[in-house]
Amino acid sequence: MKPLTLDRLLQSQGYGTRKWCQQIIADGEFSVDGAVVTNHRQSVIPDAHHYTVLGKPMIWRAQVYIALHKPPGYECSRKASHYPGVHTLLPEEMTWREVQPVGRLDHDTTGLLLLSDDGGFIHRQASPKHHVPKVYRATTAQAVDPALLIALLAGVKLHDEPGSLAALSCTQVDSHTLDLVLAEGKYHQVKRMLAAAGNHCAALSRIQIGGLTLASLQLAPGEWCYLETEQLALLVPDPAFHS
Ligand code: URA
Repeated sequence: MKPLTLDRLLQSQGYGTRKWCQQIIADGEFSVDGAVVTNHRQSVIPDAHHYTVLGKPMIWRAQVYIALHKPPGYECSRKASHYPGVHTLLPEEMTWREVQPVGRLDHDTTGLLLLSDDGGFIHRQASPKHHVPKVYRATTAQAVDPALLIALLAGVKLHDEPGSLAALSCTQVDSHTLDLVLAEGKYHQVKRMLAAAGNHCAALSRIQIGGLTLASLQLAPGEWCYLETEQLALLVPDPAFHS
């Protein structure tokens, strides 16, 4: 790995402009392996040291991969208009790093949302070719009946979509709850599929992406964590699904 000057290193981690990072260092607010360093021109191999910034430990990360338990009442769009954006639930460094959500959840949908500053990762995860299945838990307004499951599995026709869209699997959880596995992420897909099948989605949560479950992360609504290599390895297409 290439060495970086300390101001560039701090900037790469989202601590603000280069000038601001130089100021943090000059103020004695940055230490490398426990020793305060005030010369921002000093170079280090980024992943070879322990850092402290503004009194908090900092682990250097070339790129960040984040899982957020999205609560209701937040928008995924960059320029949120009616509700606060999901980025407001993350530290300011993530905004400087230009962390973006992978796809979108509606403002009233809760559950597992991935975010990253790795454009390639975002593109691969969002690509229909990649087909990472996603599991949604839907609460329905009318009781779930066999006809609903049959229709969702057979495929329903949505306005403005060519062909029909079907769930990869569909499991009844209780009288008004079902888990739907989808390969695509079309606009309001679950809500529109339920409506097209004659029911109504009263509440929706994404509980799994690929093999990564929200439950395994133990995040309360509004909490987030970094995803490490083993968790990222679970975000792969389902080998059982070919299309
Ligand atoms: N389907 C929906 O209808 N809404 C979401 O937020 C996600 C999937």
